[in-house]
Amino acid sequence: MAGESLHEERGLLGPEILDRHRAISTLMEELEAIDWYDQRIKASENAELRAILSHNRNEETEHASMLLEWLRRHDPAFDLQLRKYLLTEGPIRDAAATAPAGPPTGPSDGAANDLAIGDLRAARAP
Ligand SMILES: [Fe+2]
Repeated sequence: MAGESLHEERGLLGPEILDRHRAISTLMEELEAIDWYDQRIKASENAELRAILSHNRNEETEHASMLLEWLRRHDPAFDLQLRKYLLTEGPIRDAAATAPAGPPTGPSDGAANDLAIGDLRAARAP
């Protein structure tokens, strides 16, 4: 993965984490491209160029959406959160209150995923 930043030794990560890193890095690049296109569209005074840039920006949106779906399918925690918040109506904060409960789990990394804010509060109570 030339040019991509890993924060741990590659040999310690394994193929699942490396693929997640690839997807996350690419999603970040797609979102950055959308932001750049937004700015260039707004700044240009040429209607034809704005139309081309807008078309390209919308393709980046498709690319970002596909990557987000890939992450959802490969990460149970993303799956849980995206099912809770995406395609809802009304205040976003309220979506959590009406979503069906589910265990907060992450990718199969062997780490405990059952720690929640409620657990921390209970642990600190006298
Ligand atoms: Fe793209």
